[in-house]
Amino acid sequence: MSYQPLSLVLLTVIVFAVIYLAVVPDGLNLTEVFGAGPSSSCDNNSNGAGSAKNQLQAANKPVDLRVFIGIVTVPSAYERRALLRLAYSLQPRPVRTFVDVRFVLCTIDKEEDRILVSLEVIAHDDIIVVNCTENMNDGKTYAYFSAVPRLFAAAPYDYVGKADDDNYYRVAALVESVREMARREAYHGLLLPCHWEQEETYMSGMGYVVSWDVVVWIAATPELADDHHVWEDEDFGGWLRKGGKNKNVHDEQERMYDYWDREMDTDQNCQRRELRADTVAVHQLKDRLKWARTLHFFNVTQGLRPSKMYDIDLENNIYKV
Ligand SMILES: *[C@@H]1O[C@H](CO)[C@@H](O)[C@H](O)[C@H]1NC(C)=O
Ligand SMILES: *[C@@H]1O[C@H](CO)[C@@H](O)[C@H](O)[C@H]1NC(C)=O
Ligand SMILES: *[C@@H]1O[C@H](CO)[C@@H](O)[C@H](O)[C@H]1NC(C)=O
Ligand SMILES: *[C@@H]1O[C@H](CO)[C@@H](O)[C@H](O)[C@H]1NC(C)=O
Repeated sequence: MSYQPLSLVLLTVIVFAVIYLAVVPDGLNLTEVFGAGPSSSCDNNSNGAGSAKNQLQAANKPVDLRVFIGIVTVPSAYERRALLRLAYSLQPRPVRTFVDVRFVLCTIDKEEDRILVSLEVIAHDDIIVVNCTENMNDGKTYAYFSAVPRLFAAAPYDYVGKADDDNYYRVAALVESVREMARREAYHGLLLPCHWEQEETYMSGMGYVVSWDVVVWIAATPELADDHHVWEDEDFGGWLRKGGKNKNVHDEQERMYDYWDREMDTDQNCQRRELRADTVAVHQLKDRLKWARTLHFFNVTQGLRPSKMYDIDLENNIYKV
């Protein structure tokens, strides 16, 4: 039985590989898989997975809205990225919209991360590395938003968002909400401080979205990089206010919130709530159990088909959300 640990490891690898191939089609080159071939009528975002998603979307209905979301994370967060890829790839595709979700890292300084992140890029092509250092509140927000107009100049987006890696955007709900907004000087998110009438508001760092003209303005205004006081996301609200770029603000007060369940020893408040069906985003998903309960609540597990290969009792959870 001394081989057991090895065979367990092998089995785990094989099981993950099979699950991966079965459920993460975006990780593959769909152009090749479906033999669609590159389409000359649609050369927007012609790199890797983006291209494949775009072509899938375009084949159905014409795309009239393009949204980019950068999930800000650190090189060492390998498991979190795997979870996020799973969570985003299993979401229903919003109609008439092309959504590109990528991870945003600062300049990678460790040997192991340079190599392993390169392998992730080869496999998924969903990572952007911008010029900054991985310290809290040390210029990553400016580095990210100012890089986007240059990186995607050939195929601009209508909206560009930034999200934490412990945030789960429900993309269809987000898209439905921003679709109603003006496509200029727009700023979408959870307005803080909540229930507090004051001038100096800003969107919570859990996730916010601005229109393309705003990121172009940010890139063209390098002095913003030094306009830094407390939290970068709070500073961001200040930049827009000073630049008069926040004319179309949409506060998703009830539908964006921090995760809460009855087992937690804190109470609900204006920012922390129980999961609800019309959610745009849930934040503070700090551990696997919170992710699991959240994804189960949003019925992502309904995709599990009966099979003789497994018997998983999803109803037998101790805690019912
Ligand atoms: C995907 O496949 C197409 C067509 O074969 C090819 O041109 C493209 O380079 C591939 N992309 C990646 C990221 O492998
Ligand atoms: C990255 O940022 C640093 C500090 O702002 C700057 O000195 C350097 O030239 C930048 N590197 C590139 C490749 O833009
Ligand atoms: C490609 O991008 C351009 C510029 O944003 C846009 O006008 C065009 O509709 C896009 N095409 C597709 C198929 O998304
Ligand atoms: C999940 O599915 C059940 C059964 O179809 C439904 O009643 C419930 O509203 C769904 N929950 C969400 C959050 O959509």
